[in-house]
Amino acid sequence: MSTIAPQIQALTNAVSAAFELFSIIDKESLLDPLSMEGEQPLDCKGDIQIRDLSFAYPSRPTAQVLHNLSLSIPAGKTTALVGASGCGKSSLVALIERWYQSSSGDILLDGKSITEYNTKWLRSNIRLVQQEPVLFSGTIYSNIAKGLVGAQTTLEPEKQRELIEEACKASNCHDFILDLPEGYQTQVGERASMLSGGQRYGTSCFLYAHITTNTIEQTTYRYRSQHRV
Ligand SMILES: Nc1ncnc2c1ncn2[C@@H]1O[C@H](COP(=O)(O)OP(=O)(O)OP(=O)(O)O)[C@@H](O)[C@H]1O
Ligand SMILES: [Mg+2]
Repeated sequence: MSTIAPQIQALTNAVSAAFELFSIIDKESLLDPLSMEGEQPLDCKGDIQIRDLSFAYPSRPTAQVLHNLSLSIPAGKTTALVGASGCGKSSLVALIERWYQSSSGDILLDGKSITEYNTKWLRSNIRLVQQEPVLFSGTIYSNIAKGLVGAQTTLEPEKQRELIEEACKASNCHDFILDLPEGYQTQVGERASMLSGGQRYGTSCFLYAHITTNTIEQTTYRYRSQHRV
């Protein structure tokens, strides 16, 4: 008994912490990424209209981040959001990807409210590549291959390799990859330290964007415009 008694306090703490933890895990998300509901069109043009959008984070409901914001982001054009740190640029992107629910207003994608689309579909068609992208430890090839989706993942390795090389050529990444010590098989190193910022950015674009002609064009455009290649 004298051996067990001192541990009882720790056990009680663990049980009450587990209760809180499980209630969070079991909480149903309003924006369920696994739900099969919502439209999943084959094509996504990419016109975004933001109408009278207001938003405050659920954890800070009194601090309004966006207040009646209206904005048009036409497909095929580069739109820049410029503003002081903390003015809500990243929050707007988070709302477009439906990580949060706006308090009022609407976001339309190709003329339809984003709430009508399947959440997983939406997040596969609109991606954010952060300024400081994270690559997985492994080779350049294995990182880019993570951008393969659907039927592409079951293709023969040779076909996948062709697809990946085509994508890299189309976006001007192929040459810098071949210049690396072991080409596509170069290990990116811990936190991709072996790559320059621009090379990390270019590689990570594939990770976040699916390897399709449409997204590659956009990726190429962003990569070129950011790095002036
Ligand atoms: N998860 C969060 N929970 C609560 N408040 C947040 C959260 N993320 C951001 N905020 C707050 O929302 C406001 C807008 O932040 P946001 O990240 O959108 O700014 P930003 O324009 O992207 O800034 P930066 O140029 O520094 O990246 C800030 O006041 C920030 O403190
Ligand atoms: Mg930001």
